[in-house]
Amino acid sequence: VRRVDVACRPLRREADALVLLDQRRLPERVDEVRCRTAEEVAAAIRDMVVRGAPVIGVAAAHGVALEARAAAGGGMAAVREATFRACDLLAAARPTAVNLALAIERMRGALAEVAAASDASVVVERLDAEARAIEEFEEAASLAMARMGADLVAGHRRPYLHCNTGALATVGPGTAQAVVTELWRRGALERVVVGETRPLLQGARLTAWELARAGVLHVVVVDSLAAALMRRGEVDCVLVGADRIAANGDVANKVGTYALAVHCAHHGLPLYVVAPTTTIDPRCPAGEDIPIEERDRREVAVLGGRVVVPEESPVANPAFDVTPAALVGALITERGVVTPLDAAGLAALLSGVDEKAARSA
Ligand code: MRU
Repeated sequence: VRRVDVACRPLRREADALVLLDQRRLPERVDEVRCRTAEEVAAAIRDMVVRGAPVIGVAAAHGVALEARAAAGGGMAAVREATFRACDLLAAARPTAVNLALAIERMRGALAEVAAASDASVVVERLDAEARAIEEFEEAASLAMARMGADLVAGHRRPYLHCNTGALATVGPGTAQAVVTELWRRGALERVVVGETRPLLQGARLTAWELARAGVLHVVVVDSLAAALMRRGEVDCVLVGADRIAANGDVANKVGTYALAVHCAHHGLPLYVVAPTTTIDPRCPAGEDIPIEERDRREVAVLGGRVVVPEESPVANPAFDVTPAALVGALITERGVVTPLDAAGLAALLSGVDEKAARSA
């Protein structure tokens, strides 16, 4: 029996708290972090207690709702003030994943809708409902991408996964990883290759943890083995998620994705991007316009508690890189597949028009 259990929910909302599975500790320890304020949720996002583009948007939305609820005793003015402050704080927590900015925009919109209410509880309820709606959207999107993606990439038996794009990164089964677990459930895979994903090892720590729990046959490799595995035929496609997709189709994702795309091009293999439409940013024209987060040098310079880079050596630690659209075989979203990935295809997807049908008409 191919056991698939994706019950690794990264967050749980309670009336006055957001409870997060602490992703920094996995797989050694399964701990939770309880956040009661927007400041605590923002810190958890910055410190990567919770990470992955879709889920940080959901967490931020709940952070705003929690802050509004806590301010309700002070009346309408206090709730409005607290909501604005929470939105600003959470929007700045991590810059690259546009899902976070979009979720905050939705929370601001929800506040505007009930701005004329005289009862603070109306606003509190509206913000809670919006946070739940964002969570429900991402969960449904994740399920739809898994099914659609598995249909599209059927035929590949040895996929390679980068970073963590599973249940821990979304509030459903995942993005790229959900496609892979769906293929495994269908009995279509031989084995999954998991790149460890330096520096924070989301692949080795998180993806492997999820796949092991799900009973999916996999092997963890150092990132630098990918090209050799492709050459030997041990990898036949790469599936990745995304943090922001520009209007021209360029994709920002975990650093190392661009190198994988170049390796794929050299070996004639497809690289598929699996992401909900909340990751597409039509206001960002091209890859070079995507803000790339630079993280602390200690993530690279300290390994397992030991200093591995001389103090005097500078370190560059961008968390993401950009893959040009031309290197992407297809984009799989909850609304459909875009291939080739380009500005026209993305615009058609977002406007709901079947561009291929329109072209052939
Ligand atoms: O820095 P992280 O761990 O938040 O980076 C996550 C990624 O790059 C994922 O590939 C991306 O968010 C898509 S996850 C569904």
